[in-house]
Amino acid sequence: MHKMTGLALGIALLSGTGMAQAYEAGDWILRVGAATVAPDEDSQAVRIPTAPPTVLPGVGIDNDTQLGIIPAYMVTDNLGFELLAATPFTHDVDVLGAGLPAGEVTHLPPTLSLQWYPRGGQKGWQPYFGLGVNYTFIYDEEVSGELEGALGSLIDASSAELSLDDSFGLSAQLGVDIPIGERWALNLGVWYIDIDSEATIRTDVGNVKFDVSIDPWVYNAGIAWRF
Ligand code: NI
Repeated sequence: MHKMTGLALGIALLSGTGMAQAYEAGDWILRVGAATVAPDEDSQAVRIPTAPPTVLPGVGIDNDTQLGIIPAYMVTDNLGFELLAATPFTHDVDVLGAGLPAGEVTHLPPTLSLQWYPRGGQKGWQPYFGLGVNYTFIYDEEVSGELEGALGSLIDASSAELSLDDSFGLSAQLGVDIPIGERWALNLGVWYIDIDSEATIRTDVGNVKFDVSIDPWVYNAGIAWRF
């Protein structure tokens, strides 16, 4: 490739000039990518009703990455609505201070955002900011054999179940689409979502409840297609 052509292409890629990537009222944008939910969790202590009570410092929740499917609709050149959807996330849960796997939880965190595109109607990079609401469905919670064994020896429980309440909360996001063609762009996005839940460990000899703030950062890296 000729040096100047390469340079011009590089500049075009960086600035998006010459590519019809202006977002306008009526456009749909479908973003698809690797979406990672990284909990910034804060858990209440878990008080196991032994005599005296056994107090564990709480639970930790690890990250998970799934397929993000994120449609958006431009209502005006500068305002859009976006739905964060994804295949279900499954996270390992550990009992802090005990080095004990507690089990796993699966959830879907659909998030609807109103977005502002400051460069709407113009070609080139499309940064955006959003505020939204999240409803997190938490289901398919599973207790590890290790936790069941520990509860068995602590309180003579012969079985244990874990459940976490669903959560409704607010979210904030920012992202950018970097044009790579007339209808295609690279997409990077990040959300902060307020997800708070109450966890219950049910056993045949009694229940243990504790609050968990999951409050994850969610990252998406993928492509955006305008149509
Ligand atoms: Ni919170």
